[in-house]
Amino acid sequence: MARKASIRDLSDAQLKGKRALVRVDFNVPLDADLRITDDTRIRAALPTIRFLAERGASVILLSHLGRPKGKPVAKDSLAPVARHLAELLSSPVGFSQTTVGDEAVRLTRALPPGDVLLLENTRFLSGEESNDPTLAAELAALGDVFVNDAFGAAHRAHASTVGVAQFLRPAVAGFLMEKELEYLGRALAEPRRPFVAILGGAKISGKIDVIAQLLPKVDGMLIGGAMACTFYQAMGLGIGKSLVEPDRVGMAKDLLATAGARLTLPHDAMVAPSIDQPARAHAVPRDRIPATEAMYDIGPRTAESYARAIATAKTVIWNGPMGVFESPPFDAGTIAIARAMAAATDHGTTTIVGGGDSAAAVAQAGLESRMSHVSTGGGASLEYLEGKTLPGVAALDDVS
Ligand code: 3PG
Repeated sequence: MARKASIRDLSDAQLKGKRALVRVDFNVPLDADLRITDDTRIRAALPTIRFLAERGASVILLSHLGRPKGKPVAKDSLAPVARHLAELLSSPVGFSQTTVGDEAVRLTRALPPGDVLLLENTRFLSGEESNDPTLAAELAALGDVFVNDAFGAAHRAHASTVGVAQFLRPAVAGFLMEKELEYLGRALAEPRRPFVAILGGAKISGKIDVIAQLLPKVDGMLIGGAMACTFYQAMGLGIGKSLVEPDRVGMAKDLLATAGARLTLPHDAMVAPSIDQPARAHAVPRDRIPATEAMYDIGPRTAESYARAIATAKTVIWNGPMGVFESPPFDAGTIAIARAMAAATDHGTTTIVGGGDSAAAVAQAGLESRMSHVSTGGGASLEYLEGKTLPGVAALDDVS
């Protein structure tokens, strides 16, 4: 299969004195005072920004933030992100309140080589999410070369991720995009074995395609999170007041039948009468969940046996928390998985964490740097693991 071109493939002449239009994913969480509460995605784009600046390009950054639905919304402005980026780069970052049009083009042309300019939120523009060709052409006028480093938005076929590449060539991947595709792609195509997938989260419905895609490839699939309860119900076990998806029980039964021994469900569960009563949390075997209680985490026996499976694996992919990790003590299972993966990385195992909640859990445990790769894409990494083509990737140039 053809590899996607990256900024490494660009010649000096394609960068020096040229405007590099870079789509990044700066969709970061902000608090009520518009302070960035997690800047992982901004830091992840720094190698690409620095590389382009050092090669003599002027760097023009495009991103979305939030879901403002085609019109300006003050809380979704990228202005605080520009200030934060300037601190991270230790150099000034310009900010343009207009994203496209004459004034924006003028600013891009006036930008000296090596300087960085961030344009206002692409989702303030009505044609962004509909991938309007007129908007895509206007975006293309902002650069001489297009770089997509927004893996987190690569599953969206928008004007700034897909349309722009139809009007602006070369269109290549940045370092972050390249790294994401390398880790996730290699794990799926040629994993070192044993290959273990750990899937958690509340709902089977959100993970069904990932389960179906990964099951034939893995040596073991370990299930956690509330979705285990839908499997329990399919096995005829009582689940008390636990979250369940009644319309997915049939699907869970089919999966159990086809997966056989490769699919492992938690042996025990941490239960409580409600999430607000952590002091009453206790572990029970999976066939003893009380009728008046609900499962909020995997139990300690399960955490230990999953940790053993991780310790003997050579490739581990994890997507979705094992329990309600925002509410201790129901974070114990998720933390145990994160620790086991960190230890496995130390012994040479390739450990990959999908974006979204599992990435947040790893960050909360302070173990990000101990994983081989933590994806910056929530929905994007899930869709990639489902085997879907990401439109933002497909739009980039191929290297034959
Ligand atoms: C994300 O946070 O997963 C990406 O930035 C995509 O955002 P979206 O789900 O609003 O398209």
